[in-house]
Amino acid sequence: MVNVIGISGSPRISGNTTILIKKALESAENAGANTKFIHLGKLDISPCKACNKCKETGFCSIKDDMDDVLKTISEAQGLILGSPVYFGNVTAQMKIFMDRSRPLRIDFSLRNIVSGAVSVGASRNGGQETTCAAIHDYLLIQDAIIVGDGAPAAHYGATGVGGGVNDCKNDDVGLETAKNLGKRITDLAIKLNK
Ligand SMILES: Cc1cc2nc3c(=O)[nH]c(=O)nc-3n(C[C@H](O)[C@H](O)[C@H](O)COP(=O)(O)O)c2cc1C
Repeated sequence: MVNVIGISGSPRISGNTTILIKKALESAENAGANTKFIHLGKLDISPCKACNKCKETGFCSIKDDMDDVLKTISEAQGLILGSPVYFGNVTAQMKIFMDRSRPLRIDFSLRNIVSGAVSVGASRNGGQETTCAAIHDYLLIQDAIIVGDGAPAAHYGATGVGGGVNDCKNDDVGLETAKNLGKRITDLAIKLNK
């Protein structure tokens, strides 16, 4: 069985990004995956301080909750990264996660993990696609395999519209793209890990 991990970079614990990632994970489970949801907003993770110890040792010199996150994703075959749109980009929480995951790039532990993006903005064209693109850039640099939400829509991943905490519960398009993303990631991860 494949493991698919969903990671939210929202500071809101039960907000829109959580709603869409959980929908994607539910769909991943229906397609045959084990899933786990990680909320960065609940964890204690400091920013990278550029000591470059990871380049010497393969490990981060900062000891905090990122240790467990790195272990979890390095054992996964699928990865969903979700962030609210903040000024057209990912949140600080998601960017800190990205920078602190550099130890995994030393031996390219995320090579061929099947991955995709979730983003939610308050406005219809508020930067969902640029936020997905920022996540995709990160995944390329980790040598991951990137997929979108697949046919029939086949766009950038899961993109939601909503400002209030629960808005995406009623965002049919956002929920559909999340469902399709979870299935697309799982189907390909299963194919690649037979
Ligand atoms: C600092 C900040 C910046 C934001 N920037 C944008 C933006 O550029 N475009 C947009 O559509 N929404 C923007 N929003 C709104 C959030 O993306 C929106 O409320 C989203 O639903 C939050 O997701 P969450 O419920 O998962 O936290 C911003 C919100 C905050 C707090």
